[in-house]
Amino acid sequence: MKHLTGIQHLDSDQLNMLLDTAERIKECEEDYAGILQGQCVANLFFEPSTRTRFSFEVAEKRLGAYVLNFQEATSSRQKGESIYDTLKTLEAIGVKAAVIRHSQNGLLDDMHPRIGLALINAGTGNEEHPTQCLLDLLTIKQEFGCFRGLKVAIVGDVHHSRVARSNYYGLTKLGAEVYFAGPPCLNQAGASWVPRGCWYPFDELVEEMDVIMMLRIQHERHEQALTLSKADYHQHYGLTEERARRMKKGAIIMHPAPVNRDVELASTLVEAPQSRIFKQMENGVYVRMAVLYHLLGPAAKRQVQPVNKGAFPLGAFPGT
Ligand code: CP
Repeated sequence: MKHLTGIQHLDSDQLNMLLDTAERIKECEEDYAGILQGQCVANLFFEPSTRTRFSFEVAEKRLGAYVLNFQEATSSRQKGESIYDTLKTLEAIGVKAAVIRHSQNGLLDDMHPRIGLALINAGTGNEEHPTQCLLDLLTIKQEFGCFRGLKVAIVGDVHHSRVARSNYYGLTKLGAEVYFAGPPCLNQAGASWVPRGCWYPFDELVEEMDVIMMLRIQHERHEQALTLSKADYHQHYGLTEERARRMKKGAIIMHPAPVNRDVELASTLVEAPQSRIFKQMENGVYVRMAVLYHLLGPAAKRQVQPVNKGAFPLGAFPGT
């Protein structure tokens, strides 16, 4: 792996390798501490983010990397510099990996053959959010041990959701059965990647599923404002307390967050015993450490040279 642009391009062995590494890091993080010492990683978020941005930064720092946080408003993007030229600039000054969130589908696929630093997709358009998928897969694996035969419902604004798409690829590659539900007004025209026969009324799925993964309504990607009221959305397509009572014993609730409480799911369910929403966030740090380790770790190990007598170790400067 040189880049992580999407789950679509990974096979089940690569997915399992990343999940195994994340589990190992979670068990014995001290073995990985400092593995990226001396490596510079840049975070470029052109769309808002809390979880992905900060958990990448935590992951980078726990591995010992130098972290640069790109600010578009104070960058030469304001003078018309393209994202490609921005990345070539970062590459020239020694940055080894760039974590990128952007609204444009295909942005990384177009650039990665010409970019020397590792590109990591932190969410692009409605296309892919691979590290969200990995943290979701890790959460499901921790709960059930394996994926084969598991029934997972992905519910809500599927068409506009990069989380839904990455999870569909990841879950099916690992043997889970994936079902979809949500408002026809949002999903009818899009989500062409969903195979026919996978859409169901939510109420037909609730009692059968091992995992119910609710999606945020992606208002920022809607061509037309949603005409459904919040209350109607919740009643028809949300995980209400009544639906949650009908869930199978041992089944779990997931949501990538941020959650629109009492819209996609009842506010009381966010921290309910069957919710894994905060576990998902915790796992985000470990899967992002695993991705960085696989993209940069081996190179970092090769670069480590014995320190010559009289030479200054990394971070120490004469006279300081
Ligand atoms: N789940 C997710 O991507 O959250 P942020 O937008 O806060 O990063």
